[in-house]
Amino acid sequence: MVRIFGHLALLCLLAMERPFLIGAPSQAAENSHPRARPTAVSTLNRIVHAWLLPVVALVLLAGCGDRSAADIDAFLQRHWAEPLHPQGKPPAAFSPLEASLAPQDCGQCHAAQHADWRQSLHSRTMGPGLRWQLMLMSQEQGNRCLRCHAPLAEQKALVALELGWPNAPKQPPPSFVPPDLGHQGLACAACHVRGHRRFGPLPRGKVGTDAPHGGFTVSEAFSDSRFCAHCHQFPDDGPRLAGKLQEDTWAQWQASGYAQEGPGYQTCQSCHMPERRHLWRGIHDPDMTRRAIDVHLKLVDLGGGRHEAVATVRNAGAGHHFPTYMVPKVELAFVRHDAGGAHELGRQLIGWQVDTDITREIADTRIPAGETREFHQPFAAPGAGWRVELVVRVLPGEHYERIFRDSLARAALLPPAAVPLLRQALAGVEAARYELLRIEATPIAN
Ligand code: HEC
Ligand code: HEC
Ligand code: HEC
Ligand code: HEC
Ligand code: HEC
Repeated sequence: MVRIFGHLALLCLLAMERPFLIGAPSQAAENSHPRARPTAVSTLNRIVHAWLLPVVALVLLAGCGDRSAADIDAFLQRHWAEPLHPQGKPPAAFSPLEASLAPQDCGQCHAAQHADWRQSLHSRTMGPGLRWQLMLMSQEQGNRCLRCHAPLAEQKALVALELGWPNAPKQPPPSFVPPDLGHQGLACAACHVRGHRRFGPLPRGKVGTDAPHGGFTVSEAFSDSRFCAHCHQFPDDGPRLAGKLQEDTWAQWQASGYAQEGPGYQTCQSCHMPERRHLWRGIHDPDMTRRAIDVHLKLVDLGGGRHEAVATVRNAGAGHHFPTYMVPKVELAFVRHDAGGAHELGRQLIGWQVDTDITREIADTRIPAGETREFHQPFAAPGAGWRVELVVRVLPGEHYERIFRDSLARAALLPPAAVPLLRQALAGVEAARYELLRIEATPIAN
């Protein structure tokens, strides 16, 4: 158990206690002295005992939108200040529907956002891959994961109740908290609701003065890439491997051509929420991934019956490295076909390959935005009558496949209730593999 647990501490590639604060040196410095601050558990303990703690000092915005980058930073620091406070008592004028935190209730009025969100991975951030691990954790460790996977105070409280954590609330949840909210992942309210107030981007059309839920507060932060950084970027002093931050998507974007003002400017939202749609398609989606790369295959005759297949891959459409961090891998399989059938020549990987303990880098062949990499496969072949095929396959959860398999081999040491979830998690990451494309090349001399 102890050994497995030591191993598990590494299972989360992205565990982070500190919030990401862009452009906030004073706060960041404060946060680098964790002992001076109340622990996550004691804070949660306090808030969780009072589901309805009134919201303190919620700073109301002017209503016409944040103007400068500094305003956006200030808004995001408040909006994502850890841990999120409970919503408190709903305003008396709210109907039960307006007060509800249930995504399906938001969906009664915001049907399009709800339909998209339900298909997205953001609605599945409390999948079996996370839940079996939570069963092995203390509340403090678990809350570090929930910060990104189920960030609302009400969600953390429900998870604490389910897992029998010591600081679970003694009262049943209030009526605006649906019992399944803890399993609903990154719910609408996690991004949009604080103290029962709605926050959103600049409206696109005219908004009536009698909007439900007391109207809403506008912030340009919603349309800014920094909005996503809270969960998709570690701070500078976050965990690193081979000198590189383990989660670095925002900084990769910031260094790319897409972050430069001008016609090529593209935010995380422009690519992942086109027309403000709540899709968040990424490497799990074949169409999205096809848009990310241009692939070419050529054959070079080295003489004496020796050849080389060269795959050229350009990151033409991802706004960060392809792929952005260590979990996904893209496999290039080179196959020679002749009258005798198919002969696999070899395989190469695009991705950041790291051992399962996350202590050693094996290779880093990710492709930065706009850049090109060549993958060379030498082989010997007779004179004529053959061709080479390149098969590109995507393994969106490759790192987790290895970790889950290792853990399953030691299933006897796990709490019995965790094992079916772990099996489901492994089946899920394996099922996420897909073939992206295949292309062929024939030797010119043939
Ligand atoms: C009874 C219907 C109703 C319910 C329930 C409801 N909303 Fe709204 N909401 C509206 C209306 C109407 C507006 C005004 C803007 C519009 O027409 O889209 C609005 C505006 C918003 C905006 C601002 C949009 C912008 O342009 O910036 C956000 C964000 C929002 N709602 C989120 C939510 C969330 C999250 C929930 C659930 C927790 C929710 N709403 C529940 C009707 C509703
Ligand atoms: C800083 C935010 C953050 C924290 C903290 C975090 N995660 Fe994640 N996690 C992510 C993101 C982002 C992804 C998805 C990345 C992708 O798919 O490219 C993810 C994906 C996962 C996945 C794979 C998807 C799935 O649901 O099976 C697992 C498992 C997971 N995290 C477990 C954990 C565990 C366990 C912890 C705590 C020890 C944790 N995470 C803490 C952001 C976070
Ligand atoms: C991961 C955070 C996140 C989650 C979860 C989320 N949203 Fe949003 N939402 C955003 C962002 C960011 C924008 C603004 C996008 C932009 O400006 O390009 C937005 C925009 C909106 C808008 C304005 C749409 C428009 O066309 O003007 C509404 C309404 C809304 N969201 C409702 C919801 C509802 C309802 C849910 C749940 C079903 C939800 N959101 C879940 C981040 C989120
Ligand atoms: C509160 C934390 C949080 C915020 C804020 C957030 N995400 Fe995520 N995001 C996650 C987690 C956790 C996952 C992992 C989902 C899974 O696989 O279980 C994820 C998954 C994704 C994926 C799917 C990647 C894949 O593997 O296919 C994309 C794309 C994405 N997020 C983009 C965004 C964008 C763009 C924004 C800003 C508008 C954003 N996210 C804001 C936590 C967050
Ligand atoms: C120019 C368009 C574009 C921009 C800008 C962009 N992305 Fe992506 N993103 C993609 C494409 C295409 C993919 C699928 C291929 C891939 O995984 O790299 C992707 C994949 C992802 C994934 C899946 C995991 C992985 O390992 O690749 C996450 C998470 C993600 N993006 C988050 C973000 C965040 C956060 C931002 C802003 C900081 C952002 N993206 C900016 C196009 C974009």
